[in-house]
Amino acid sequence: MIVDKYNRVHNYLRISLTDNCNLRCFYCMPEEEYEFTAASKLMQKEEIEALSKIFVSLGVNKIRLTGGEPLVRKDAGEIIRSLSKLPIKLTITTNGSRLHEFVDILEESRVHSLNISLDTLQPEKFNLITRRDQFKQVYNNIQLLLKRNFHVKVNMVVMKGLNESEINDFVEWTKEQPVHVRFIEFMPFTGNRWTSNKVFTMQEMLEVIRKKYDVIRLQDEKHDTSKGYMVTGHQGTFAIISTMSANFCGDCNRLRLTADGKMKNCLFAEKETDLLSALRRGEDVIPLIHQNIRSKAKELGGQFTADFEHLHPEEIHNRSMITIGG
Ligand code: 5AD
Ligand code: SF4
Repeated sequence: MIVDKYNRVHNYLRISLTDNCNLRCFYCMPEEEYEFTAASKLMQKEEIEALSKIFVSLGVNKIRLTGGEPLVRKDAGEIIRSLSKLPIKLTITTNGSRLHEFVDILEESRVHSLNISLDTLQPEKFNLITRRDQFKQVYNNIQLLLKRNFHVKVNMVVMKGLNESEINDFVEWTKEQPVHVRFIEFMPFTGNRWTSNKVFTMQEMLEVIRKKYDVIRLQDEKHDTSKGYMVTGHQGTFAIISTMSANFCGDCNRLRLTADGKMKNCLFAEKETDLLSALRRGEDVIPLIHQNIRSKAKELGGQFTADFEHLHPEEIHNRSMITIGG
């Protein structure tokens, strides 16, 4: 088992397949000329399989593939197929733009539930946020997946002054369709222009939603990072991920592997352990995994607290989101 100082058992691994992406969301990718990691420095398919097997042998039973955008990687389909043979629940977080090419593979690989990022329902605003004209493609792909009976979660990063006015449009979407919207508080990462006054908190979101709808609180599952709700009579649900105002670190079961093979024990951890180089040298990586997890901080990578209004983002030592993998 992978256990930290606080007795948290880690059974959930998030693997970034690439730091490359076909969109350019400003809150994730710091600048337009960002240089993607060279393919040789990324974990190769066999290396991803080997590391995944090691983590599974240590008790991991859920793996999520992330990016960048995982589906821009040429061998994404093969990786999905091969990981689906492990005794795990396999899921994926994607920007949705390439899903039409992958529905069959996902179905065959029993990836039943997936997270799709979509921060606005307005095509113009989508272009502004992502700097790419792909709204229709993403929206159509969500419809395609719903038609094929996938469990679709839509991740919306709520940023004050940008898209908080659309919260109820997303809630309205859950009326006729079984989509599961997740409103995410805006988090600070290197280069993403975060300021505390752009955070729209869970409390503020609920106020906006309750003004219009009768809301029921749902029972959360163990380790859920989100707090679930639904509107009476709606087919879908919504949830709030309150990383900034009310973190859920006490119950954390997550580990991360960056596309270049570094283990991170928290989204906000400064420390990284280079598992890929060790694997390439033929060394045993298991002691490195245990060593890394022993250094896991109690909350938020030990870098800040829920008092985010006094947070100076330049004091956080981390990568940009695109190089971590969400
Ligand atoms: N704050 C909150 N969520 C973010 N994501 C990316 N960057 C941020 C941020 N700064 C989300 C993406 C994606 C998920 C992996 O993380 O929208 O849905
Ligand atoms: Fe790409 Fe997702 Fe980052 Fe947007 S948030 S640039 S879609 S990886």
